[in-house]
Amino acid sequence: MLGEARLDPTWDRASILALFDPATGTLDRRVLSDEALYRLELERIFARGWNFMCHDSQIPNPGDYFINYIGEDQMICVRGDDGAVNVLLNTCRHRGNALCRAEQGHARSFVCSYHGWHYALNGELIGVPGQKTYYRGDLDRSRLGLARAAQADSYLGFHFATMAPDAPPLHDFLGEVGRTGLAMVCASGEVEVVDGVQKNVIDCNWKIAVDNLFDWYHVMYSHASAGHSGILDLAGILHPNNQMVMLGEYGHAISGPGVPKEAQAKIDLMSDEERSNAPGPAGLSRLRPKSATELMGPNGVRSLGHPNIFPNLWITLNGMQMCLRLPRGPSKTELWWFTLLPKNAPPQFRQRALRAAIHMFGPAGLLEQDDGENWSQSTRSSRGFSSRRLGQALSMGLGHDEVTEEANGERYIDTCVNEHGQRWLYRSWTEWMAARDWAELEASHSPAPTGRV
Ligand code: FES
Ligand SMILES: [Fe+2]
Repeated sequence: MLGEARLDPTWDRASILALFDPATGTLDRRVLSDEALYRLELERIFARGWNFMCHDSQIPNPGDYFINYIGEDQMICVRGDDGAVNVLLNTCRHRGNALCRAEQGHARSFVCSYHGWHYALNGELIGVPGQKTYYRGDLDRSRLGLARAAQADSYLGFHFATMAPDAPPLHDFLGEVGRTGLAMVCASGEVEVVDGVQKNVIDCNWKIAVDNLFDWYHVMYSHASAGHSGILDLAGILHPNNQMVMLGEYGHAISGPGVPKEAQAKIDLMSDEERSNAPGPAGLSRLRPKSATELMGPNGVRSLGHPNIFPNLWITLNGMQMCLRLPRGPSKTELWWFTLLPKNAPPQFRQRALRAAIHMFGPAGLLEQDDGENWSQSTRSSRGFSSRRLGQALSMGLGHDEVTEEANGERYIDTCVNEHGQRWLYRSWTEWMAARDWAELEASHSPAPTGRV
């Protein structure tokens, strides 16, 4: 599906790699505003990578569908009559009209509103008005089914799709860190997405919204008013000296507060009943059950931080919300907030959790008002002729930390507030952008760091 990239002459491999200097943490501001880089991102980041589509609970029955995006391409994720999930490009093969207009729902088939072409749930073209008369039988329907994602797969009930036939399997793409991040959502049991995805648009580049999720430096300052108002217990969630970072292949990362090893050793000895009665650490309403260790790993389970599944899926509030940062041009990002709650959660818990979800993030979220303003002003300054010539400084903690590697393969950094996650994001981004295809990316990308970082 992916054709050969026609690079803007400004952006050859060397100039893309020079946009971020891992040795100093200096980021070229043009990554936040350049049109040609943005167009290349749609191909080399979004169409090439595995993108989150929806959760099992959103499409439980044949005919249930949910609309999502791969970059700016709209995708229909629909459960077929055979129970399998089809991920189809939402564009009619006649003249390109958007076929499905609702954000989610149930359908027996899809009929285009322009000239009435009719498609089955698996994308097959099953009806064309005037096929015998106007086309005079001269139309090969078998060649004009809806285009499909090159690969679609799921992990723990989360459905993903890629337009790249040569992308590695989802399991390998996620790696330890991506899988640990997704496991955070279901670490305490089965979950379901609450009806109603909150959507809003912020005038910022999508990457600055992504890099902010690793940024535990801004919380005390940017969100001071939320702390003063009492909606946010800053001391309870910050733990600036107990931070834990996990950096995974292809750009995945988890960063934020972590339970210290000694404290986790005590938790590991507790039964599930004792855990459910104990007060939870930093922002957790309760301790994770024993089974979470199998899903997240003995060290991954210590993380209370923010995972990002590269490129743009943030998991927050200890797995209670997920947010997609969808690109809408170099200076615009659409944020989609999914709230996930335990299946059969008691009504009181549900009400409290939903209240927290609505008041923290999303269009009515106190925190997103603070963040959005900073992101849009930082994006805006990257367009100015003089200001864009100044690099951004992402040097916090650079060269001061060590990656611990366990015998089971887990890698993590126990440290204080830092900018490792942001540096890993931009380093990985330059490597994705500089590589023409998966073969080149596989051959040239940095492995997850070891040793001193
Ligand atoms: S554009 Fe869909 S039927 Fe013509
Ligand atoms: Fe924030």
